[in-house]
Amino acid sequence: MKGAVRAHWGSRMAFVLAAAGSAIGLGNIWKFPYVAGVNGGGLFVLIYIFCILLVGIPVFIAELYIGQQGQKNVVESFEVLDKKRTVWSFPGYLGLVSAFFILSFYSVVGGWVLDFEYRSLMFQFSGMNHKDVGEILNSLFSNPLRQTFWHFCFVLLSGSVVWAGVSKGLERFNKVLMPSLLVILLGLLGYSFTLPGFSKALDFLFFPHATDISASSILEAVGHSFFTLSLGMGAILTYGSYLSKKESLSRVAFTVAFLDTTIALIAGMIIFSIVFSFDLEPAAGPGLIFATLPSLFVQLPGGSILSILFFLLVTFAALTSAVSILEVVVAFWTERFNTSRHKTTLVVALVVFLFGLPSVFSTNIMSDVKMFGLTFFDLFDKLTSSYFLPIGGLLISLFYGWKLGPKAIEKTFGGPIKFWSTGLLWLTRVVAPLAIFLVLYNMAVGF
Ligand code: TRP
Repeated sequence: MKGAVRAHWGSRMAFVLAAAGSAIGLGNIWKFPYVAGVNGGGLFVLIYIFCILLVGIPVFIAELYIGQQGQKNVVESFEVLDKKRTVWSFPGYLGLVSAFFILSFYSVVGGWVLDFEYRSLMFQFSGMNHKDVGEILNSLFSNPLRQTFWHFCFVLLSGSVVWAGVSKGLERFNKVLMPSLLVILLGLLGYSFTLPGFSKALDFLFFPHATDISASSILEAVGHSFFTLSLGMGAILTYGSYLSKKESLSRVAFTVAFLDTTIALIAGMIIFSIVFSFDLEPAAGPGLIFATLPSLFVQLPGGSILSILFFLLVTFAALTSAVSILEVVVAFWTERFNTSRHKTTLVVALVVFLFGLPSVFSTNIMSDVKMFGLTFFDLFDKLTSSYFLPIGGLLISLFYGWKLGPKAIEKTFGGPIKFWSTGLLWLTRVVAPLAIFLVLYNMAVGF
């Protein structure tokens, strides 16, 4: 696959699904509930939704546009649009670094999901109570070999999709799997409605309580809105580059943001219903969904089958996201250095696997090794979500709003639509960059 011919999506629909596939992943089902839980619920959720609207959607449009008009990878699209090699390729390089950091912990969690899928298939959850379920998670955490194995499997699976090329299997995959995930989530939501903890869950998630929200919670909300929409490191940019220059973009961003937020909120409602029904701890951290969901499955008639289906779909959601991160690196490398897709994918996947090992060991043999008080798993997560992605998004927003300016925005909407384009212009020029800057500044220095 050497040479200059770039792949393109088969249809507009295929592109929307791929972008949604990238956005909807562990961020929605695993990360959102646990981060919302740790940060006290309601107020955090509200801030997160504001961030999606005022920062996420504008940056989403900017990234898509840069990729679509540049028709190149995460670094070279900036160079094309700026007509030279400039400082503006910096967000591109930052994105490449972020890709490895994110995949490091992402594929480890993907491995946990695979492990739970395997246990569901073996009917290991049958007859357990929620205490036993919690123990399963702990035994996985303390087993470095088992985690390494599943982490390896996850990297292998996502690597093989990228190896085959984006447009081939993935388009068809997404078309069936993303709607199935939504259906099964809605089904589970129906079940959780019957649980005693349901109304408490709603209250926890949707009513801003007078919890003292700190600067770091706000930073986490900003960071999570980037993470969940796959923004700030060029994944959406790269997918945009496989779209023909003529397609209009504005509606795609809204559709994806809407789907992504809806799925996160549904996952949150299900999980907190279980938490409050069984007196579990809402602030349990990264293990939250693994300790709670099986508790529901063991109770339900046909729960084992549901559990198999559920973890399978989460696996696919995670894979379609991981693939979009890998693709950023592979697209850059093959185009910049004219290497073959196959060889490049192999090398990148190997590096990702090795880079993930510190995250695997963070819950066992290296749990005492800390930098800035964080294990490697937490460090990679925090560094990317809270710093690299927002900084990348800030620069992308400025590039689009100021460097490319009103002409680009007009092109984005396919004509001069006064209200929306003026809105978007100032969102990308001032509102989004300022919001990100203030949050980062406040974290670093304090007001
Ligand atoms: N958005 C995905 C999720 O919610 C993860 C993801 C895919 C991502 N591509 C990304 C996160 C790019 C940050 C940047 O699971």
